[in-house]
Amino acid sequence: MTKAAILGTGSCLPERMLSNADLERMVETSDEWITTRTGIRSRRIAGRGEQNYQLATKAALLALAESGIAPEELDLIVVATVSPHMIMPSTACFVQAELGATKAFAYDVNAACAGFTYSLDLASNYIQNRPDMKILVIGAETLSARVNWEDRNTCVLFGDGAGAVVVTGTADGRGVFGSNLRSDGKLWNLLYMDSPESYNPDLRREEWQGPFVRMNGGDVFKHAVRLMEDSVTSLLRQHGLTIDDIDLMIPHQANIRILNNLRERLGISEERVFVNLSQYGNTSAASIPIALDEAYRQGRMARGDIVLLCTFGGGLTWGALLMRW
Ligand code: UT7
Repeated sequence: MTKAAILGTGSCLPERMLSNADLERMVETSDEWITTRTGIRSRRIAGRGEQNYQLATKAALLALAESGIAPEELDLIVVATVSPHMIMPSTACFVQAELGATKAFAYDVNAACAGFTYSLDLASNYIQNRPDMKILVIGAETLSARVNWEDRNTCVLFGDGAGAVVVTGTADGRGVFGSNLRSDGKLWNLLYMDSPESYNPDLRREEWQGPFVRMNGGDVFKHAVRLMEDSVTSLLRQHGLTIDDIDLMIPHQANIRILNNLRERLGISEERVFVNLSQYGNTSAASIPIALDEAYRQGRMARGDIVLLCTFGGGLTWGALLMRW
């Protein structure tokens, strides 16, 4: 049976590193607080020439080179992002233009931190219909542009970056073989980013406080652990697998305490969970594809391995996806 397999991966991180010590000079915080509460030591912050679509394009070029696919061969470009370059056109259209991917249609997916996993699932579904499709799936964020740099509750958590994969249909056993994606819009106000202020006075909202990321950290934490655990266990059960069958789990990188809690509840050993959170912080939709690229380059996945992605973000959105590498 044909499945959507990843042919190549790539990632791009901005040059500028912002350490916890740098943040100590910006808000009332400490390296000790950030490290013990989150596991984050530094993050990358985009500068000139590092707009969302530019990071995305660099990551894409690396994934295409690794795949041996030319931009003109692409059929579809999907960019998962909540910090797009513009609201319209999509960041994916900017990437298409940069790459010269003339044949491809392009659009963005907004599913917050879960965006890359949702998009990979989407690509997998396209490929069920048209196995020859060549699809570029990107997670890219410049959340530094959307964070309130005076709010210590959020500004220490996020970072910028992009990761990309090229996907096509194969019948050699590799590829995505299951997913369990969920949302709960009733809990939207636990984690959100408001839009720019309305120019239509009738649509203006009294509670509007600026287009920043806002979060109820404690509640998000509790939901993240429980809901990721639920989606992973039910997906494994559905495929007759146990956690011992997983060779590598690549979770969304938000907080080391969330990851440790999740790891303990699932009963998966530390060496089978990929973590790079300390260097990049929470890069939202970019976190899993960056981690995937690094895991691949570090030789953490061998052909035939079962890889589990699990994710959680604003919406709420969450879920898990299984693939054979
Ligand atoms: O990617 C999408 C998913 N997002 C997440 O998964 C994030 C989930 N949540 C978290 O990671 C954690 O809840 C946080 C890291 C955001 C916060 O950790 P916490 O252990 O839940 O801390 P808290 O919010 O309960 O705050 C504890 C204290 C508060 O002070 P008081 O009220 O006890 O006096 C905060 O004001 O820590 C204070 N605080 C800080 N102190 C120093 C909050 N942020 C900071 C800071 N530096 N940066």
